[in-house]
Amino acid sequence: MNVLLLGSGGREHALAWKLAQSPRLKKLYAAPGSDAIPAERVSLKATDSAGLAAFVKEKVIDLVVIGPEDPLAAGTADALRQAGALVFGPGKAAAQLEASKAFAKDFMTRHKVPTARWERHASFDVAKAALARFPDGVVVKADGLAAGKGVRVCRARSSAEAALEDMMVKQAHGAAGTTVVLEELLEGPEVSLLGFCDGKRFLPLPSASDHKRLLDGDEGPNTGGMGVVSPTPHLSAKELPGVLKAVSAPVLAGLAADGLAYRGLLYIGVMLTEAGPKVLEFNCRFGDPETQAVLPLLDADLLTLCEATAKGALPAETPKSHGAAVTVVLASEGYPASPVMGRPITGLAEASARPGVLIFHAGTARPEQVWMTNGGRVLGVTGVGKDAKEARERAYGAAETIEFEGVQYRKDIGLVRAAARQR
Ligand code: AMP
Ligand code: GLY
Repeated sequence: MNVLLLGSGGREHALAWKLAQSPRLKKLYAAPGSDAIPAERVSLKATDSAGLAAFVKEKVIDLVVIGPEDPLAAGTADALRQAGALVFGPGKAAAQLEASKAFAKDFMTRHKVPTARWERHASFDVAKAALARFPDGVVVKADGLAAGKGVRVCRARSSAEAALEDMMVKQAHGAAGTTVVLEELLEGPEVSLLGFCDGKRFLPLPSASDHKRLLDGDEGPNTGGMGVVSPTPHLSAKELPGVLKAVSAPVLAGLAADGLAYRGLLYIGVMLTEAGPKVLEFNCRFGDPETQAVLPLLDADLLTLCEATAKGALPAETPKSHGAAVTVVLASEGYPASPVMGRPITGLAEASARPGVLIFHAGTARPEQVWMTNGGRVLGVTGVGKDAKEARERAYGAAETIEFEGVQYRKDIGLVRAAARQR
């Protein structure tokens, strides 16, 4: 099969690596791709629907796999389907589950998906007055896509007022924040439940937990994700099926009831509260960096799974997986506020030659035979082992051999703190 992958980051590097293992792959293209992604680069943006539709016809592409959220929200999947392509990734209507927090919350309320109590507001004054109804803390969320920066967890009323002002008055996230969702503040460990979803079935990948804060011990600012452990240490193998069912069954029923066609990856972000699992968010695509930890554990042909999803013909059996993985993100100096780029990277070959180690490039470039940093998050170093301990040792052993000026990474990815364990 000829496959076109959209995107350019660490997630897409992992997707390309796994797609390339399929004996059914003839040729892989990536738009726009990167110097590291093992695919022929196509100089088209992932949101250039017309250009991509023409490319798909010209090169006789059998399957398009969409990595990032922007093309999904923009309706690129619909445009490519109209042009006759088989596409992995939902259309614009269903992608609102990620692109609009209010749409997602309405969907969850309508279909009894367990989630935090919430309100939607488009007036600053009304929203400010509504804070009185959230005396135990509130989470303020910009309705639209804000590159992972549109959520503020506020324990004090003053910080909630400041968040509302930033979003609704100062328009810190542009139009994405002129409508906000207010949510009750929940407590508990978080898990990312990713699965292939064709509207009828949700076939789970191994569970994962992302580490969103910059610094050890979950301190410092929120980031795009500093590392992942898979499977999550917060759910036992016995507990997992019940949680998967509690969150995915009402979603599948809701998609059918609303007539929303879904053909892609569904990422259900869940908080494990004392009152049971609650859905925090949906993403309509693979997580980044979850993908870099989860795909190396999958004992199945990713190309065949994506094709079956795109055709609406997923099998009944959950794909098999093995062992555990830990991904440590190596970030640039100054990340996330103002990353410094353009620094040479050494030690990559030594690191990737170690057993059970995979290096995925999130923000690098190789202008002249030397790898350089070219983004906030630079590399995802994945260790795979029989358990999380071995995976951790492998990931950190490899991370230590890689150097670039100002490199920063967390030292506690995959370590479960005592507090998190006593739920
Ligand atoms: P979201 O993009 O909606 O998943 O929110 C980003 C992050 O904000 C989540 O991963 C949580 O850490 C936190 N968060 C979101 N909603 C809540 C909530 N209702 N209570 C506590 N924390 C939340
Ligand atoms: N790792 C979180 C996300 O992909 O949104």
